[in-house]
Amino acid sequence: MNQGLKATAITVIGSQLVSTDALAEETTLAALQFSQVPLPYASNALEPALDTLTMDIHYGKHHTAYIKNVNDAIAAEKISFSSEKDFFANTSKLSAKARNNGGGAWNHNLFWQVMKPGSTAPTGKVADAINGSFGSFEKFKEQFTQAGMTRFGSGWAWLVKDGNTLKIGSTPNQDNPLMDISDLKGTPLLALDVWEHAYYLKYQNKRNEYIANWWSVVNWEEVAKRLS
Ligand SMILES: [Fe+2]
Repeated sequence: MNQGLKATAITVIGSQLVSTDALAEETTLAALQFSQVPLPYASNALEPALDTLTMDIHYGKHHTAYIKNVNDAIAAEKISFSSEKDFFANTSKLSAKARNNGGGAWNHNLFWQVMKPGSTAPTGKVADAINGSFGSFEKFKEQFTQAGMTRFGSGWAWLVKDGNTLKIGSTPNQDNPLMDISDLKGTPLLALDVWEHAYYLKYQNKRNEYIANWWSVVNWEEVAKRLS
């Protein structure tokens, strides 16, 4: 009788172990993986504002490394958030490796997409929103440039939507406005990488010239999609 009870208990425990393992495997399989967006243009297409060698290294080395490293962190640390939104909303709970590389992966994916050869000035709802929030396109450009210029060291300048208004700000390192630890919050519409790796080969220490020329490759149609 006692042996029978014991055998039953072992069976139940064994069954629970199998179930737990199966659930863990499902969770791992469903966990978020970051992927690199295809570059929407040739790496020389943004010349002369962004030089080809910088683009090749930036996209092919720096960004690729962020993608690999965040996915390594997700696997090694068993991070189980299933969406980018949840991942960044819980940044305060993540390791430095997951935070820095997750931001690097996401921020650059946006950066490539909000650029294109041959920019034209914003129109329609984007122009209206910029004029409504900043007074004019020129004033917006001044404030955005200032945000990029005053970010000490490495980081990003951002245009974000916060409720019914647009805001400009910057974040350090690879932080972004989706992160719970960020002072700047909102839906990113436009991002400018002001890390030296984004401009140093062509512009050396002249970040102001990099930003001035970058306006010629901003993809305002992509900004409009994100404003919707
Ligand atoms: Fe970068």
